[in-house]
Amino acid sequence: MKRVKIIDLPKVEDSRGNLTFLQNNDQIPFEIKRVFWTYDIPGGQTRGGHAYQSQEEVIIALSGSFDVIVTNQDGTENKFCLNRSYYGLYIPANNWRHMENFATNALSVHLSSSVYDETDYIRNFEDYKSNEYQKHNDLRL
Ligand code: TYD
Repeated sequence: MKRVKIIDLPKVEDSRGNLTFLQNNDQIPFEIKRVFWTYDIPGGQTRGGHAYQSQEEVIIALSGSFDVIVTNQDGTENKFCLNRSYYGLYIPANNWRHMENFATNALSVHLSSSVYDETDYIRNFEDYKSNEYQKHNDLRL
């Protein structure tokens, strides 16, 4: 069963600083087809606020911190505070998520299982609430 979860990425500690890496599919449960990032987010802004029908992603706060809020179909929320460069938040398809509480200079990197496809977005929360995808896949937290 696919669930939202924090993936602890490898961390090589060194007196000169830390190093984290991703390679092949060793850390990420899908083949990465696209990487995008958001940055220079003004204070108080939110990003996201949609679900994907089939796309899976891993979100990493490469620098700084922010919160990812996953909203279930019943309206309940789960908050994940990304504040370490070695946390990857895995989000399976059909989970409504948005990002908020961005620290100054926060860098949010998204590893995605597919290329950009607007038709894969569920942008209307009412559609998300009434859709059958999440029930079929039992993706509840
Ligand atoms: P979107 O995914 O809607 O981000 P947010 O929900 O945070 O606003 O993307 C914002 C815009 O950027 C949208 O017009 C589509 C475009 N975009 C691309 O062209 N390619 C991409 O890979 C992504 C993620 C977005």
